[in-house]
Amino acid sequence: MGNLSTSSIHADDFLNRVTDVAPPINVSTTFRYDNDKLIPSGEVSGSIETDKPPVYSRESHPNATRVEAVLTSVLGGPCLAYASGLSAYYAILTYLRPKKLFIAECYHGCHLAAELFSKVSGMQILSFEDIDQECSAHDLVHIEDPMNPFGESCNVVKLVKKVHAKGGLVLIDSTLAPPPLRNPWEFGVDIVMHSGTKYLGGHSDLLSGVLCFKDPSWAAEIKMQRMIMGTIPASLESFLLLRSLRTLKVRVKQQSENCEALVKHLANHAGEVSGVLAHVRHGSLQPEEYVKELNQGGYSPVFSIILKHPEQCKKLVKRVQIFQHATSLGGVESLIEWRSLSDPSIDKGLLRLSVGLEDIHDLIADLFGVLKGLQRELEEQTD
Ligand SMILES: Cc1ncc(COP(=O)(O)O)c(C=O)c1O
Repeated sequence: MGNLSTSSIHADDFLNRVTDVAPPINVSTTFRYDNDKLIPSGEVSGSIETDKPPVYSRESHPNATRVEAVLTSVLGGPCLAYASGLSAYYAILTYLRPKKLFIAECYHGCHLAAELFSKVSGMQILSFEDIDQECSAHDLVHIEDPMNPFGESCNVVKLVKKVHAKGGLVLIDSTLAPPPLRNPWEFGVDIVMHSGTKYLGGHSDLLSGVLCFKDPSWAAEIKMQRMIMGTIPASLESFLLLRSLRTLKVRVKQQSENCEALVKHLANHAGEVSGVLAHVRHGSLQPEEYVKELNQGGYSPVFSIILKHPEQCKKLVKRVQIFQHATSLGGVESLIEWRSLSDPSIDKGLLRLSVGLEDIHDLIADLFGVLKGLQRELEEQTD
């Protein structure tokens, strides 16, 4: 089923077990065997077959199976769902066991997960600058694009070609640009990862992660490892994620449009608040042609502003009314975060914004109104 709007609503229809239109939440951890089809486990073929009856919920359960059927269709490759984005990331490191991981500035939690994996495996953690000298067969390059917290892009296609020429593999963390914004398989990557907690979930009410891989032969072993680690998402979360995927296209498209309009307003009117606003950073402001190519379906609904003084950040987050001061991103409600509260390595003047589905005029009035108020106060002080 190729069309995103249809597949996100119907790709799991073949898994209907009852007549309910909204699938039930199945809470059982164990499932009765079919006594007419008793096959020893060693003789069952190893793949992520969605029609295989569930046995025990650490391995699979109906709600996760349904969500994986939709994700497989929506993301365009075999998918496994996880209890969080970081557990999905740890799972792929465990499966691939790369000797070297090349990783740039990105979500700091992925750095922490890589460091933890490095402690148990001896994996070396290197930067993108080391790829030319150090990358060889089976090493892994982790690209986050668009990148946290700016929503900016790097030249993914060029990087993928370079890594493949050395025999390495490329994982893209596409959390900040889910479908319909882009299809990362077009960039040549080997693995697509999402924190499903963000846009796929979309309502700030569930934790989940997703791995999607190009090579279907990986699926059975990765699924077996997930069963051992117990990192399948629980039934309620799987149900909520499925519910959310039904509206993925309309939500993300509108959030992207809202974000681009807000960024444009800030960039065009920056001169009016020049005592407060130092920079606006977002993919839509990057001039490079490759950035436009990567983001043909729309830019990420995440961007950052850098204020001149950290004290102004504290005042701004207190005064905005619609933007909620909270970490995370991707939900229907707009969030703002003074990023220093959760990322120790970040510029202390940086505020990250995740643009939601509120009316764009209200969003502009809320954020720009507070910036203008801060500017006025500054001018009054210097008068
Ligand atoms: C880009 C990115 N990748 C991965 C993660 C980790 O996801 P989770 O919080 O679902 O474990 C996050 C979380 O903020 C993220 O922003």
